[in-house]
Parts: sequence; structure tokens; C-alpha cells
Amino acid sequence: MTNEILSTMVDTSDEWIKTRTGISSRRVAKNCSTSEMAVNAAGNALENAGIQAEDIDLIIVATSTPDNNMPNTASVVQSQLGACNAVCFDESAACAGFIIALSIAKAYIEAGMMKNVLVIGSDKISRIVDWADRSTCVLFGDGAGACILSAYEGNSGILGADLHNDGSKGEVLKGGSIDNRDERYIDMNGQEVFRFAVRNVPETINSLLNKEGTNKDEVKYYVLHQANIRIIESVAKRMDEDMEKFPNNLKDYGNTSAASIPILLDELNRNNKLQPDDLLVLAGFGAGLSWGSLLVRW
Ligand code: ACO
Repeated sequence: MTNEILSTMVDTSDEWIKTRTGISSRRVAKNCSTSEMAVNAAGNALENAGIQAEDIDLIIVATSTPDNNMPNTASVVQSQLGACNAVCFDESAACAGFIIALSIAKAYIEAGMMKNVLVIGSDKISRIVDWADRSTCVLFGDGAGACILSAYEGNSGILGADLHNDGSKGEVLKGGSIDNRDERYIDMNGQEVFRFAVRNVPETINSLLNKEGTNKDEVKYYVLHQANIRIIESVAKRMDEDMEKFPNNLKDYGNTSAASIPILLDELNRNNKLQPDDLLVLAGFGAGLSWGSLLVRW
């Protein structure tokens, strides 16, 4: 759905949306559910990794928009893929969901409990967007991305994590209520979220790099949750880093919540931008409020 189409639905314009957010278009999954998108992404990840579905021990789906409360989305994915040996659960940390899910996978693998973990970020945010509210409907899009983490003796993988939550600020960004129809849609204090992101994202990245003894010159890319290009530009500026190190694709997809980081990672990978040993920082932030970052050696 392009900005032009949106301009026929609410009082907005291509120029306003592009200038304030950097978004030109977004996908709306009209005939596809969160679990269907998750299955498609997971199938591609399995193929890419050359791993059989039966070899997956754990499936985690990061989502704020599951098809149902029961069974969870991960179980639907398991059934569709034939991943009969996997334990399955969903995790909900909104736009930080993929980061949290990766950290859970890392912990299970390092504890020796799991060998191959399928981590998926899938969100059909269009379902909880009020399409008459111009202040939110222009921002979001639907999507899914997936990856597989495996136990491995070498020195690549997720090296460290820095994760945070502040539930006392939950009112700043909420929605999707099942019981209260008045709260079914996303309700957001945009400026508060903006301030939260540009303050906390550089902080978590700096604290992560300090903990891991890594200099920012060693980082090839900062793969940030794709919410708004102005947030990414402000983070780059505050960190005194070049925008070249902040790949982005939100122009084409908008904010796809838990899916934005894996979609961007996949595009970088398929475009041969990632080489073995490259150091990446992944950073997510969103409702909760929750935020955090991971250091990854590709
Ligand atoms: N088209 C035209 N005008 C609009 C639109 C629109 N789509 N939306 C709001 N406006 C109007 C407002 O009504 C307001 O008009 P007024 O001055 O007559 O009252 C004016 O534009 C300015 O509104 P602000 O809310 O002050 O606009 P701002 O510059 O803050 O931009 C935005 C809004 C883009 C939401 C910004 O606050 C932002 O980027 N916030 C970050 C939030 C974010 O990215 N959230 C994504 C989800 S959360 C996450 O993923 C972490």
C-alpha cells in the first residue's frame, strides 16, 4: 500500500509521510495470517540453512499479533513444516521481540538443551491498526522473517546481549486489547516513543560494546528495528557514526514490528553484504517499553 493510496483514505500526503518517517509504501497481508507469513519465512530459512525440519528442537515466534491465543503460532508453524521434534512457544515483546527471541535461543543452546532453534519474527500489525487514524496507520506494515541458530564450536554467533524493560511506561504505546474494544487499536504517543528510542538505543548499544570490550570501529553494521528513518538518523548522529553503517529498508515496508530486523538481515545476506567474521549490532525497541541490543559475529 503506497502513500498515495493512504492519502485517499486519511488526510495525509506522500510528502508528509516521507519527510516525517522515510516510508514510501508498506505491505498489507489481506489474505495471509501471521502464522502463514511465519511458515513462509521459516521454510525459506530452513532451505537457506540446509537443515531438515525434523532437526529443529525449538521454535520461537516473536509476535504481538498471533492468529489465536491457543494454539500458539509456533505450534502452527511446527505442524505446517513437519518439525515434529520441536518444542514451541510464542514470545511477545513487540518491536524488541526478535532480539529477545534470539537471546532466548542463545541461552537454550549455550545451556546444552537445544541444538537447532528456529527463531521467527512475524506480525500482522495491519489487524490492530485503526485505518482512520492518520497518526498511526501510515507507520506500519505486515511481514515475517526467520533464522536458524545452531550449536557450533567456532567463534561466530551471538556474542553478547544488553536487554531492558520499563513497564511503568507501558501507556506510551499500546493496543490489541481483546477484552476492551476501545483499546483494540494501536494507541501511541509518537513524540514520547521518538524520545525514548533516540535516548535508549545509543545507550544500550554503548553499554553492550563496553561489556563485550568491542570498539565501535570494529562494527560493520548496526541493524536497527525499522520504525522511522529519523530515529535511525538520530541514533547514528548521537553515536557519531556514519549513516552508511545503518542499513535500512523501511522505505518499502514501514514498521513491521518483530519482523523488521530479520527481514533486513535477510536482505543484507542475500545481497552479499555480510561476510564471515563481520561484527553486527542488532537493536530493537518498542512497546513495553522494551529495548535491547545483541552483538553478533556473522
Ligand atoms: N499526515 C499528515 N499530518 C499528520 C499525520 C499524517 N499521517 N499524522 C499526524 N499529523 C499531524 C498531527 O495531527 C499534527 O497536526 P497539528 O499540528 O495540527 O496538531 C502534526 O501532524 C504534527 O504531529 P506530531 O505528532 O507532532 O508529528 P511528529 O513530527 O511527532 O511526527 C511521528 C509523528 C512520525 C509519529 C513521530 O512522532 C515519530 O516518528 N515517532 C516515533 C514513533 C514511531 O516510530 N513509532 C512506531 C511504532 S513504535 C516502535 O516501533 C518503537
